[in-house]
Amino acid sequence: MDRKGHLLWIPPWMTEAFSTGVPVRAPAGPTTLPAVRQVYPPPGDHPDVDLVDCFHADQRPAPAGRPWVLVNMVNSVDGAVAVDGRAGGLSGPADMRLYQVLRGLADVVLVGAGTVRAEGYRTPRTPDGRVAKLRDRRGQAARPRLAVVSGRLDLDPTIGMFSEHDPSDPRPLIYTTTAADPGRRATMEPVAEVVDLGSVEWSPSAMLADLSARGTEVVLCEGGPTLNGQLLAEGLIDEYCLAISPRVVGGSGRADPVEQVAGAPHEFRLDRVLVAEGFLFCRYLAT
Ligand SMILES: NC(=O)c1ccc[n+]([C@@H]2O[C@H](COP(=O)([O-])OP(=O)(O)OC[C@H]3O[C@@H](n4cnc5c(N)ncnc54)[C@H](OP(=O)(O)O)[C@@H]3O)[C@@H](O)[C@H]2O)c1
Repeated sequence: MDRKGHLLWIPPWMTEAFSTGVPVRAPAGPTTLPAVRQVYPPPGDHPDVDLVDCFHADQRPAPAGRPWVLVNMVNSVDGAVAVDGRAGGLSGPADMRLYQVLRGLADVVLVGAGTVRAEGYRTPRTPDGRVAKLRDRRGQAARPRLAVVSGRLDLDPTIGMFSEHDPSDPRPLIYTTTAADPGRRATMEPVAEVVDLGSVEWSPSAMLADLSARGTEVVLCEGGPTLNGQLLAEGLIDEYCLAISPRVVGGSGRADPVEQVAGAPHEFRLDRVLVAEGFLFCRYLAT
C-alpha cells in the first residue's frame, strides 16, 4: 500500500520487461492499481469492478465452425488509433491492465502485419496466478499463441514475438497465401508456422476455420484497422472492446479504428461501460 492507501501495483510493462511480452501499448501514468467502476448497466450499490472477475465471467460461446472473435482497440476521443504511428500514446495503466486481462482470456492473439511492423510485437507474458488458474480450469494453454496475417511476409524474424518465445510453446502462426515471396517465406519458416490460405487472396473465415480446427475457442484480435475491417466485412466480430482514451489527437489522414467496408454499419449492442482514470471501457456485442 502507498501512503494514500492505494494498492501498490507493478505495471504490466515493467513485469514484462523482465519476463516476456512487452505490450503494444506503451507505459504511462502512476504505479497504483487504478480503481475501475461500472457505470452501465447501473451497478446499484456496488460500482467497483475487478477486471478479472468481470471479463472472465462473460460467456464467449464459439459459433459453429469458428472461434469467438473479440476485438480490442484503444481510441482517442476524436477517434485516432495511434499517436506518431503507435497506440502507446493513447494508453494508460487501467487500459494496460484491461489489455492484459483480455489477453488472459484468449487462446490466440491475432494481429495484422501492419501492427506488427508498427509496434514490434513480443510474446504474450504468462498471466498471473489467478488468471493462470482460470486458464487451467478452462483447459487453455499457459499463454495465448500469437497469429499474424500477412500477404507480403515483410516481417522481421528477429523481433521478440519470433525470436524470444518460450521453446515449450508452439511457434507463432503466420497466415499468408501461396503467392507470398519464396525468399521471405524461407526467412520466416524457421521462426513461425506459415499457413497458406489461398493462391492470392484469402478470407478471414478460412483463417478462423483453421484456428477452430486447431482447438481455438477464443480469438483476441488486437487490430489494426485493416484486419478489423476484413473481419467486419464478413460479420466475424462477436465482441468489440473499445477503450476511449481521454486524449484528443487532432490532425488529418489518420486511420479509422476499423477500415470502412461494404455493407457497414453492422449493429452492435452496448453490453457494459466501465470507467477508470478518465478512460471509458465499452463492451459491445454483435446483435
Ligand atoms: N489503437 C489501437 O488499439 C491499435 C491497435 C492495433 C493497431 N493500431 C495501429 O494501427 C496501425 C496499423 O494498422 P493497419 O490497418 O495499417 O494494419 P493491420 O490491420 O495491423 O495489418 C494490415 C496487414 O495485414 C495483412 N492482411 C490483412 N488482411 C489480409 C488478408 N486478407 N490477406 C493477406 N494479408 C492480409 C496485410 O499484410 P502485408 O502488408 O504484410 O501483406 C496488411 O497490410 C498502426 O499505426 C498501429 O499502431 C492501433
